[in-house]
Amino acid sequence: MATKERTRIAFPSSALPNGSRKLITANRREIAVFNSHGSLYAVYNRCPHHRAPLIAGSIGGANLPSPVGTLRRGLEGCVLFCPWHHYEFNLESGRCIGDPRLRVATYEVRREGGEIAVYA
Ligand code: FES
Repeated sequence: MATKERTRIAFPSSALPNGSRKLITANRREIAVFNSHGSLYAVYNRCPHHRAPLIAGSIGGANLPSPVGTLRRGLEGCVLFCPWHHYEFNLESGRCIGDPRLRVATYEVRREGGEIAVYA
């Protein structure tokens, strides 16, 4: 079975400082790239719910499953909140935390020398 070639999109690391985000286009798809606490994430720029632009979402943590009467927070800096209806997406897996059947596409992103490279 042939493997599909991926497109590499790179830009200077200085264009994505800690706490920032950047919109890129690959194969006519918008991809939102985030630098959250030094970790890099790249997701398709459309929410699977009603297609909001995820680049405009905020980043934080989430309440995790926990016993009744307790509150457990986690995934700080790894949860993207959709700007329209506030669904929460795990930036690593793309899964919606409240409804794992919903998922946004994620892309490999890494530092290469002085660049940040996204593979789409
Ligand atoms: S459009 Fe994203 S949660 Fe509704």
